[in-house]
Amino acid sequence: MMKINIRLLLPALIIFIFSGKTVKADEPDFAYIFSYTVEPAWERGGLQFAWSIDRDNWHPVGPDFRFLLSDFGTWGSQKKFYTPFLIQNKEGLWHCIWNLGKDIKSFAHAASEDLYTWQRQSYPRVMENGNCLLPEVSFSSEQNKYIITWISEADNEKQVFKTTTTDFKNYTPTEKAANDDRLNARCTVNIEGTAIDGTVHRVSWETIDGLIKWNDWMAHHNTERAETMDEDPRRFKNLESVDAEITLYPEKAKTISDLLVGIFFEDINYAADGGIYAELVQNRGFEYALSDRKYRDSTWNSYKAWSLKGKNATFTIDTAFPIHYNNKHYAVLDINQAGAALVNEGFSGIPVKGGEKYIFSVFARSPDGSSGKILIRLVDKGGKAIGETEIRKIGEDWKKFKAEFTALETVEDASIEVIPQFRGKIALDMISLFPEKTFRGHENGLRADLAQSIADIHPKFVRFPGGCVAHGDGLENMYRWKNTVGPLEARKPQRNIWNYHQSAGLGYYEYFRFCEDIGAEPVPVVPAGVPCQNSSTGGHGQQGGIPMSMMDDYVQEVLDLIEWANGDKNTKWGRVRAEAGHPEPFRLKYLGVGNEDLITDIFEERFTMIYNAVKEKHPEITVIGTVGPFYMGTDYDEGWEIATRLALPMVDEHYYQPPGWFIHNQDFYDRYDRSKSKVYLGEYAAHVRGRHNNIETALSEALYMTSLERNGDVVAMASYAPLLAKEGYTQWNPDLIYFNNTEVKPTVGYYVQQMYGQNSGDEYIPSLVSLSNNRGSVKKRVGISFVKNNNTNDLIVKLVNLLPVEVNAAIDLSGYGIAGQNARLTVLTGSPDDRNAKPQRKNIEVVENFDYQLPAYSFSLISIKME
Ligand code: AHR
Repeated sequence: MMKINIRLLLPALIIFIFSGKTVKADEPDFAYIFSYTVEPAWERGGLQFAWSIDRDNWHPVGPDFRFLLSDFGTWGSQKKFYTPFLIQNKEGLWHCIWNLGKDIKSFAHAASEDLYTWQRQSYPRVMENGNCLLPEVSFSSEQNKYIITWISEADNEKQVFKTTTTDFKNYTPTEKAANDDRLNARCTVNIEGTAIDGTVHRVSWETIDGLIKWNDWMAHHNTERAETMDEDPRRFKNLESVDAEITLYPEKAKTISDLLVGIFFEDINYAADGGIYAELVQNRGFEYALSDRKYRDSTWNSYKAWSLKGKNATFTIDTAFPIHYNNKHYAVLDINQAGAALVNEGFSGIPVKGGEKYIFSVFARSPDGSSGKILIRLVDKGGKAIGETEIRKIGEDWKKFKAEFTALETVEDASIEVIPQFRGKIALDMISLFPEKTFRGHENGLRADLAQSIADIHPKFVRFPGGCVAHGDGLENMYRWKNTVGPLEARKPQRNIWNYHQSAGLGYYEYFRFCEDIGAEPVPVVPAGVPCQNSSTGGHGQQGGIPMSMMDDYVQEVLDLIEWANGDKNTKWGRVRAEAGHPEPFRLKYLGVGNEDLITDIFEERFTMIYNAVKEKHPEITVIGTVGPFYMGTDYDEGWEIATRLALPMVDEHYYQPPGWFIHNQDFYDRYDRSKSKVYLGEYAAHVRGRHNNIETALSEALYMTSLERNGDVVAMASYAPLLAKEGYTQWNPDLIYFNNTEVKPTVGYYVQQMYGQNSGDEYIPSLVSLSNNRGSVKKRVGISFVKNNNTNDLIVKLVNLLPVEVNAAIDLSGYGIAGQNARLTVLTGSPDDRNAKPQRKNIEVVENFDYQLPAYSFSLISIKME
């Protein structure tokens, strides 16, 4: 299976071409290559190479460059690479097997044609008891198969085992073997004074040359990636302002995607519960569990955020008679003397606004028949009541009670008290408090200010529920959409992969409704039948998908989602949607399957099943596949190979990179083959050291987005990630919008997304930009994009300047019949580490040929209303 990614090999190929011929006269025809790993030097390890002409003097390539890393298991404790063993078959393909750690019952395998680009990995489970140390592989010509042996330690005994394979996919059952079956082909060589074990092969010099050039190219690439604006005073010393002549080519205009800018919503950083989901009570269903935080926090349990105030009462958690089996825990108060209160502290306090209405609700029952009134009080820190209401007539069965009240004062950190006014037992569950003013006034709605800040981007689509949340930490933690629709008390809460709790109060219904509210296409992402490649529970990373015996049901679950979203209200799942309050279909058009998954056979098998079923039953749905978490590498190559083979309509690419990467890769999509799958750039962001969002990150994103618009015929959608982060509860930086209980704090990067989102086009107009300074470093820091919005008839000019000097642009718009037109100018500018810059807006007049000065470090946008 030949797999060459021309896009990525191009720089290396260019070096080959410029060197004239592949092997120079003074180079040997062959040499020796030593493959090894230095384990203690780097905790994860990886495949290293050294070369020698005489098998005596060894020269490390890199010297620390890892040509192959292990993808097995969870970050931190796994992904280990020990004792590699290489073999080359007669077709020239290299096979590498290695040990994954002393507790692992599998060895690992990957193949490569050139030793620097590696195909997908597999981890055949060959032991029931015992491990796979020092694996070796040989090829038996008589048997026409590979023989793999290893040493296994179990019960303090070392034994040799073997298996055979013809394709490194199917293996014969493991057998005991003899010591004589071992090749013992590893040897020790001395590399720069250190004795290291590994394997030696005789290869052509070209093979070694390829490794050296790959390493050189990566080093060059990493130098470009590492460029920061801190170096600008040196890099652009003596640079004077630059002149730019800009000419448009309306006759070369092309149609581009009108969905380019959207948002990626993931419940990370308390984005949902405690964030955009307007519920003010924390742990309302008493379902927080030690497992949410991997048993590392003993306070994270059903009692979290709750306390009992007052005397002569107890507060316990019971599970004997739940409202619903998905919602097992509830509180039981045993009151000996009326007055004790069950108190919820909210998410670090309950913020309320004086004069505004709040809706309280609770499920209650009286296990011992005692009854009476329950007082509900909102109190400030000093215990003063700032709102009060009550419920009555509690019966022996669970019943939902609702009461409203108006807050008397504005308080940021109130708490809510539930105070039975009688003696006896009372069971309580789903204790909830919502502001009446949610976004668009929906019941079970969203926090208005946060939702509005998202709406203000004018996103054309919303991807949800993640990210890693979508595929989950282990099979049990996958985000299953059916658990998140229907009555709140019947939804299934679960652990959030980011180590907290998801109530599922913000579920698929609420996500779709939000999309509808803001006029954005819903883009749900369902797991591809595999969990996160870094899963820490239920196995080792992704290395086990939904069992094939259960895949038909899972595929049906995905098809049911489409029926739920789009089906008539008389269909089975359409009815569930209608009963929730939305008889009209949601008009789902896009469906993501998988999230930056490790591309393995296990993934491919399951993904293909889901894709084929959706394609067959719902050809109208655009399925979005996944090509890993990076812009290159095995998952990217293998993911693209699957996409091309299946002719997928679209794939989801992700990359978080330093600003230098965005500056130096503006041609990333110019090279894409237009006949293949379209791209959804589902997660991207520029990351600087310290991981904050500042002018440097924002402008490098703005610059890169000019290239996304230019390539809007192949890039169909793009979304910055992550979106929301609550101060004090942030697992990931930078994010687009920070917030606390009362404030919303958009970042500089937010304004870039907003400027693009509010000024999108459906037609791209190529332009020629001639700069007075021809230095590559200067040219790469000026980005221009012209788009036309044929709905609004706006011509939109985006001008990005990452230079520390002004750019004096002379813009020629002839061909558009512009004569003294009113235009809106928006400018975002600041010093590189400015984290608070906001766009400034003003009206200007433009003529057919006009001058505009781009400030140093700025993003300017001119929107011209055409007549
Ligand atoms: O955006 C944060 C995380 O980054 C997402 O959950 C995941 O898809 C990616 O690795």
